[in-house]
Amino acid sequence: MFNVPSVPHQEKNKSIAVLTSGGDAPGMNAAIRSVVRYGLAHGCNMFGVSKGYSGLLEGEIQPLSASSVANIIQRGGTILKTDRCEAFFKKSVRREAVNILKRKEIDGLVVIGGDGSFTGAHLMENENKFPTIGIPGTIDNDIFGTEDTIGFDTAVNTALGAIDRIRDTASSHDRIFLIEVMGRNSGFIALNVGVGGGAETVIVPEEKQSIESICRTIDRGVKRGKTSSIIVVAEGPTEGLSHRIMKDLEKKGHNSKVCILGHTQRGGSPTAHDRLLASVLGASAVAHLLGGHSNAMVGVKADEVVLVPFKKIIGKKKALPSSLIEFAGILAT
Ligand code: F6P
Repeated sequence: MFNVPSVPHQEKNKSIAVLTSGGDAPGMNAAIRSVVRYGLAHGCNMFGVSKGYSGLLEGEIQPLSASSVANIIQRGGTILKTDRCEAFFKKSVRREAVNILKRKEIDGLVVIGGDGSFTGAHLMENENKFPTIGIPGTIDNDIFGTEDTIGFDTAVNTALGAIDRIRDTASSHDRIFLIEVMGRNSGFIALNVGVGGGAETVIVPEEKQSIESICRTIDRGVKRGKTSSIIVVAEGPTEGLSHRIMKDLEKKGHNSKVCILGHTQRGGSPTAHDRLLASVLGASAVAHLLGGHSNAMVGVKADEVVLVPFKKIIGKKKALPSSLIEFAGILAT
């Protein structure tokens, strides 16, 4: 399915550290395991940094052996722990982080995380010439330059399982359910579970939908004899969106219930897809670092591993295939 780049022979005895940063995602452990074992297999000394950039600044760096990453491929979360580090916005703080890594004689850093985490790595390398490489790990699948991110498939399947259960009670009680999934700035989870879960409507931050159009969809279903409806809502940037929609629907004569799936989507054992993706991307990140490539992310394009420079992806918005929203609606009519 995926290709792993080969490692040049001459690169031996390098020291590589790995950290996880930002929101955790199922499959991060599988990526850590792969980074460590692939690095060890190619003669490297491997290190784990605890608690993302915050832990790095506190010098929380430990050697990792093959057995220290045993029995983690199936576990959600991240054994290295993770954090969002405000301090890392400062140039002097990033310099200090590089000094800490250099004092430990570390030659390169693998960062598993999202856009914000990659920004930190990119600046660290630009300012200090310290090699960094990113592995996309976020349930939101919102990283430009890669078609897939570690954790997305698991989160979609978790949400889908919940929707299937809610559908049972929705149809038993003839109810409309608003099911809120994660996605502060992006609707990838919502769109995928909307299509996969047979939702009547999908609401995403990328596209405005009027309450009138939501009502029209509900009414069309009612006319056809439908007694229940599933509306998938991506949480969006401001809290309480589903409850606001519920109130608006009530004003139009439709009673509904809200179910917020929240952080349940971030936990749990990774799917086979995420374990494979994480394993291949982990090894590829190490292979690229050893091949002298850095300041870039390993991503996926048409089932192939690609190396994309950070400068080409950071801050860019990955487009949602919005035709799928209409598609979800067509299939649910
Ligand atoms: O991991 C991404 C994400 O799950 C977003 O969809 C969500 O808005 C955010 O993280 C919430 O994370 P936290 O509760 O850790 O701030």
